[in-house]
Amino acid sequence: MSINANRGMHGVWLSRWTFIMAATGSAVGLGNLWKFPYVVGNNGGGAFVLIYFACMLLVGVPVMMAEVVLGREGRNSPINSMKYVVKGSDSGRVWQLIGWMGVIAGLLILSFYAVIAGWGLHYILELSSGSVVGINGESAASLFGELTSSPAKLIVWQTIFLGMCLLVVSGGVKKGLGAAVEILMPLLFIMLVAMLIYAILEGNFIAACKFLFEFDIASLSWRAILEAMGLAFFTLSIGMGAIMAYGAYMPADASIGKTVLIVSFFDSLVAIIAGLIIFSIVFSTSGIEPSAGPGLMFISLPVAFGSMPAGQSIGVIFFVLVVIAAWSSAISLLEPATAWLVEATGFTRFMASLSLVGFVWIIGLGSVFSFNVGEDFKLAGFTIFDGLDFLTSNIFLPIGGLAISLFVGFVMNRNMLLRQMIDLDCYSLTLKTPSYCSIFSLRVLWDWLLRFVAPIAITAIFIMGIYDSIVS
Ligand code: TRP
Repeated sequence: MSINANRGMHGVWLSRWTFIMAATGSAVGLGNLWKFPYVVGNNGGGAFVLIYFACMLLVGVPVMMAEVVLGREGRNSPINSMKYVVKGSDSGRVWQLIGWMGVIAGLLILSFYAVIAGWGLHYILELSSGSVVGINGESAASLFGELTSSPAKLIVWQTIFLGMCLLVVSGGVKKGLGAAVEILMPLLFIMLVAMLIYAILEGNFIAACKFLFEFDIASLSWRAILEAMGLAFFTLSIGMGAIMAYGAYMPADASIGKTVLIVSFFDSLVAIIAGLIIFSIVFSTSGIEPSAGPGLMFISLPVAFGSMPAGQSIGVIFFVLVVIAAWSSAISLLEPATAWLVEATGFTRFMASLSLVGFVWIIGLGSVFSFNVGEDFKLAGFTIFDGLDFLTSNIFLPIGGLAISLFVGFVMNRNMLLRQMIDLDCYSLTLKTPSYCSIFSLRVLWDWLLRFVAPIAITAIFIMGIYDSIVS
């Protein structure tokens, strides 16, 4: 089938707001709620947060805009959108690798993401059962150990979570993804605000603010900066085509610049709010370290919930929130591959997503076993789980982001690019008069960020970060 014949076969979001909710749903996930707080904790707080924001603004936002441009111009799965745009730009076929790499990275991320999301599901039950009331650190750690040391439990939860993703993605763009995010995102927002109020009233909010915003330059290493950039990519869902796939379903008249700014604003806001909530609660109980690592959410938090007023019910709400956030992200990891399989094979959406979920489930067993029977199986010091996490966040996503910024910045057909970005010319930074607006336009600023700032920053951080990881 020619790629032109099936352009746009998956449908379009109901409105610009559905796109914003879907993209925010993709962005806001375990990266914000689980990873951000513990990575900040490990890297000493404020200075790391600042680098993270710089990466978001100077690299993340321009790259995300570029991804949406590619998707909306291609109107297909990332693989076929890239094929279309690369052809239209008369450029080398290597650029099509952006699509392929993305689809593969998405499935790899989903494979370990589903395992962690499964922990969240388990903790909804655990907290509802009352087993954390009055619990101390040791018993919380052993509760967590009981879960992670049991492959059977992990597999059950991983399977349920992947089933939830299948349910949404097989429903298609409007009735599946669109409908899901329109219910889930408002719910997520309400729960987040409720949690924040609780954290301010009952937690140690001041200590949390200090921790997140106080500066300690000494704790920054190149490796930490690489991690901050990887985290920015990960929490924004960029570098692998998830946003490209969602962009393909975006209404043609919506402004890409504005919507992307809204999405990244929400994403950073949620990371900060999540950090404030989690550290307020963690610091309210003495003797818990902020640098507890991946167990921060599953060991330290339950201890705190166990001793706080109404902690049990609030704890249940918290883990429901975590699962909803993870769910609305995981569907964006599955969608690019699903769309591609539908285009390539003519499978129904259900068959396509079912086969992919099966595939992801099998790879996910590697992560499941990383916590128990296979914990001593290490490559270069990484368990399968850690290795997949490091490889995708710190290598695939930055390389994907670099390739996207170079392609859109230098290679893509300018007519294709300009027709997606025309509105940016009309927001002048300095002069409002239309005659100047194409000279001092935000599009020129974006062009610069995309051509020079993003590629140079990504390359420098990448090389120094990898060097640092090897030397230390
Ligand atoms: N952004 C999500 C989070 O913060 C995870 C995610 C969803 C993702 N889609 C992605 C990460 C695509 C990288 C690429 O949890």
